Amino acid sequence: MADHCNLVSVLGLFLVLTLFHNPITVAGQTIPAVALFTFGDSNFDAGNKQTLSKSFVAQGFWPYGKSRDDPNGKFCDGLIAPDFVAKFMGIPIEIPAALKPNVNVSRGASFAVADATLLGAPVESLTLNQQVRKFNQMKAANWNDDFIKKSVFMIYIGANDYLNFTKNNPNADASAQQAFVISVTNKLKNDISLLYSSGASKFVIQNLAPLGCLPIVRQDYHTGMDQCYEKLNDLAKQHNEKIGPMLNELAKTAPGFQFTVFDFYNVILRRTQRNMNFRFFITNSSCCGVGTHTAYGCGLPNVHSELCEFQRSYLFFDGRHNTEKAQEMFGHLLFGADPNVIQPMNVRELVVYPVDEPMRESWEPTTSTTVQASDSSRGYEFY
Ligand SMILES: *[C@@H]1O[C@H](CO)[C@@H](O)[C@H](O)[C@H]1NC(C)=O
Ligand SMILES: *[C@@H]1O[C@H](CO)[C@@H](O)[C@H](O)[C@H]1NC(C)=O
Ligand SMILES: *[C@@H]1O[C@H](CO)[C@@H](O)[C@H](O)[C@H]1NC(C)=O
Repeated sequence: MADHCNLVSVLGLFLVLTLFHNPITVAGQTIPAVALFTFGDSNFDAGNKQTLSKSFVAQGFWPYGKSRDDPNGKFCDGLIAPDFVAKFMGIPIEIPAALKPNVNVSRGASFAVADATLLGAPVESLTLNQQVRKFNQMKAANWNDDFIKKSVFMIYIGANDYLNFTKNNPNADASAQQAFVISVTNKLKNDISLLYSSGASKFVIQNLAPLGCLPIVRQDYHTGMDQCYEKLNDLAKQHNEKIGPMLNELAKTAPGFQFTVFDFYNVILRRTQRNMNFRFFITNSSCCGVGTHTAYGCGLPNVHSELCEFQRSYLFFDGRHNTEKAQEMFGHLLFGADPNVIQPMNVRELVVYPVDEPMRESWEPTTSTTVQASDSSRGYEFY
């Protein structure tokens, strides 16, 4: 009888634990208290551009930050994807901008700066290489080697390289494009290797969005509402195809190197298709700005931008940055989605994966790179 009671209460407890698990202890694994470091361009900029720039930065003012009544230099109406990932990792504060004075970087920092590139010398910004060097300068005073090794390093970079290339070389042929993609991705590999030699071992690489579908690109290249600018989508695709194999290679050759790739390309592309837009009613033009796609000049003093009434129903807040509502979705997908969206593992799995242990799975090319707008696939990417 006593045994029977114990069994019942154990089952009951199990049920309670199953029903009331919180995101910090998913499947019984406690998320270790580590840091989140981000690198890249405006998408992950937490206020660095604002600190670095001597000129007016619209992101420090309304309508940026409007959803939280807090314009703080982020390129969004509110929080950005890394803030949500940080929250799911149990980090109690928003990831601060590393270049801002007197910020608390104990659980990570954003080194990303708007306008950042891999190649060249971006104006009032930092290349990824310079961001990694900045991280190295701050290392000794803030984080020990063991902590760095267990922490997560998220990177989104390359869009500005391809936007700049396309603008300056409108007639580039296929071989010029391929050559450029090779120099960009080789630089990315070098910079990731530098970060690895600085002690990082857990990498999350977000592949490039379909750049030709950004509202500002549709507007600038006059594609209309239904078309994307395919030249830029092609460049992004060529770039993205190289990322997974490159990281597989690093995982084989660099001891303890662990990574995952977030398929941002298809996450965005899917949402621009009718019937698959995951509740975003407007996905081809933005909430704030002027022009055919409301894509230019949000928040600029001499521009009379329009501002949508309900930004939650938009995929894009300005011409190239997503709304907080979309960023929240990306945060969920990064942290918990299945391999259709992020592979070989999601951020939750990457964080608990033992350090120094070789990865058991590698990145695999997906069979369908194009998106089918069929109802059966609707929602399949939810975690
Ligand atoms: C920095 O933030 C952490 C939480 O992430 C907190 O525990 C710590 O007390 C803070 N340090 C200072 C100096 O405020
Ligand atoms: C943009 O392209 C021009 C012309 O190719 C190049 O000189 C410049 O360095 C590029 N800028 C960046 C930041 O890469
Ligand atoms: C948005 O663009 C996609 C192609 O990228 C197209 O299929 C879709 O019809 C467009 N949606 C609207 C509302 O124009």
